[in-house]
Amino acid sequence: MLVEKNVPLQPFNTFGIAAKAHSLVRLRSQVDVRTWVEQTPQKDHLVLGGGSNIVLTGDVKPVVLKVEIMGRALVRETPRAWIVEAGAGENWHDFVTWTLEQGYPGLENMALIPGTMGAAPVQNIGAYGVELQDRFDSLDAVDLDTGLEFTLDAAQCGFGYRDSVFKHAAPEVAASGSQGYGLAGRALIVRVRLALPKAWKPVLGYADLERKRAESGVTEPTAQQIYDWVCDVRRAKLPDPKLIGNVGSFFKNPTVSREQCEDIIARDPKIVHYKMDDGSVKLAAGWLIDACGWKGKSIGNAGVYERQALVLVNRGTGSANPADCATGGEVMTLAKAIQTSVYERFGIRLEPEPVVV
Ligand code: EPU
Repeated sequence: MLVEKNVPLQPFNTFGIAAKAHSLVRLRSQVDVRTWVEQTPQKDHLVLGGGSNIVLTGDVKPVVLKVEIMGRALVRETPRAWIVEAGAGENWHDFVTWTLEQGYPGLENMALIPGTMGAAPVQNIGAYGVELQDRFDSLDAVDLDTGLEFTLDAAQCGFGYRDSVFKHAAPEVAASGSQGYGLAGRALIVRVRLALPKAWKPVLGYADLERKRAESGVTEPTAQQIYDWVCDVRRAKLPDPKLIGNVGSFFKNPTVSREQCEDIIARDPKIVHYKMDDGSVKLAAGWLIDACGWKGKSIGNAGVYERQALVLVNRGTGSANPADCATGGEVMTLAKAIQTSVYERFGIRLEPEPVVV
């Protein structure tokens, strides 16, 4: 267990926001986690994975737990699936690439999503018609109050759209009635297992992928082909955090009732919307923000990406002058201004996707 003091967090958050951790602990094994639990009676902490879904608004006083538990392997095979496992510190995209190299398809639609394995279940990552929960087997976590390890299956993780038990504090989730418990701040995920289907079928249907299919003339693409298309599409419209700091989608796509949607369509016929199985309608937050004229705009050094209004960016990434870099405060001021204008025009409250610290 490695403990460091006054650690700059800029390299550890993909927004590239400058902030410091008063104390940072690198957890490289389960033994490290147990040692930390045993040695720390007062547990005020922040778990950090790849830092790709976090906005730092100042120096972090709670101890930052940086999960660096590695390892990936095929752990089991059933007649239907390969069960593959990865340590929580493994990079998500590298894992996706590895599974395809090993001949286990199923994660290709989620290629290039930034972040780590441990963070993937927390917000049930997803892209192009596949979510983590569609491929999930189970995970191991450590209870940071007791040091005991436990295993959760998909139902116990309470997955929803960019949501899980790991995002909710216990009373909050119990009050909503959806789950009996919440595990935010309590569980530290150490290993994740995914079930990759032997009877693999491509998941297409998303306009961007269908366009790629039409362009290539391929009617029955392989998983590797879809992986390549997804990488191309994402590289074309999402900024690479190494060059332009960002956390992917900044807001969730809001869901409204059919009546509400009809009302909005009557006023804005072009609104991009998708009908959900339960009768509700999901609206494209990117479209709403774009319609309010935010694309390319900035507040201070925080901006709205020119090619995708759903993504907020750090305009000062890579600059040698720290004053060029966006602060967490600027990012949140911009986010609030966007929320206000979307609310004033459409009556819809956008909810941020990343965790604001
Ligand atoms: N749109 C605009 N203007 C914009 C942005 C989008 O008009 O500036 C329109 C697009 O033309 C499109 C629609 O809005 O018709 C939806 O946009 P897009 O497909 O680009 O993105 P999305 O569906 O809103 C979601 C996920 C992404 C994921 C993609 C692909 C959320 C919040 N975002 O975006 O996830 O990659 O679908 O499946 O659900 C992430 O979570 O970080 C992320 C990138």
